[in-house]
Amino acid sequence: MTRPVIWIARRLSDATLVRAERDYDIIVNHDDIPYDRADIIAMSAKVDGMIACHSEHFTADIVATLDSRLKIVANYSVGTDHCDLAAFAARGIVVTNTPDVLSDATAEISLLLMLGAARRAVEGDRMVRDGDWDFWSPSFMVGKQVTGARLGIVGMGRVGQAMARNARGLEMDVHYYNRNPLPDDLAQGATYHDSLESLLPLSDFLSLHCPATPQTRGMMTAEKFAMLPDGAVFVNVARGALVDETALMAALDTGKLAAAGLDCFVTEPGGNPALSKYDNVFMLPHIGSSTGATRDAMGFRALDNLDAFFAGNRPRDLL
Ligand code: DGY
Repeated sequence: MTRPVIWIARRLSDATLVRAERDYDIIVNHDDIPYDRADIIAMSAKVDGMIACHSEHFTADIVATLDSRLKIVANYSVGTDHCDLAAFAARGIVVTNTPDVLSDATAEISLLLMLGAARRAVEGDRMVRDGDWDFWSPSFMVGKQVTGARLGIVGMGRVGQAMARNARGLEMDVHYYNRNPLPDDLAQGATYHDSLESLLPLSDFLSLHCPATPQTRGMMTAEKFAMLPDGAVFVNVARGALVDETALMAALDTGKLAAAGLDCFVTEPGGNPALSKYDNVFMLPHIGSSTGATRDAMGFRALDNLDAFFAGNRPRDLL
């Protein structure tokens, strides 16, 4: 039997490539330069499946033009906002993602951003690095205490729950907004709110963990930032599209926000250069899931989905 041909759209981990090569004929983007629309469409005529990342944009018009040879796109991401799922369904092309395996790594980054923003990591690092640390006093570099504070989590899925676990280690009082309340064994004592309006006023720290959907895009408006307690700390490891970045900067300017920690931006790669003037904004380049162990696990999960599909079974992470 001929082996399926799989296009691997970005340079995945060595362990992932070894396993992929064992089981499939693979075409790998070893140069790791993102493909454009024309490349993706051309590639679809040469392969039976793709492993794609959030850097590959499958808009409705691209999906409509994909060659009928392509049967499955196994995403190497939990988020699928780069895929028009309705367009894929209309074409009968199967789409999967990689939930679970990246939750801990992503929650680590939200913890890092929360702590770094609250305790002035950017400012402090720059001062020491630049040789400008020439003074110390009890009133110097005073930050905001995280231990025991109230944390609001928007989206209590797997990453949100992992962040709540981290926060409990800091004895934080965890509140969350989600479409539905979690069962007690998953909520672990966190307090449910049935609206963002209810959650925001008590979120001294606010951390976003929901997907970007038509309902959540642009969710953090000026009005929503205004509902936070004065001097709140805002963290986003989910998607930049959730946030009005102009409103975010206005909230930093007025002191409504004491600080922010951001791993996601409206424009990626690149981020928002206007944010660079804020020493109280701790920024990372969308690396929430970027650990060696998690990269392997994401690759294996994408391959598990391909294996199931080509064996005639239902992939575990079918969307
Ligand atoms: C995800 O899995 O959605 C991460 O943001 C990386 O793409």
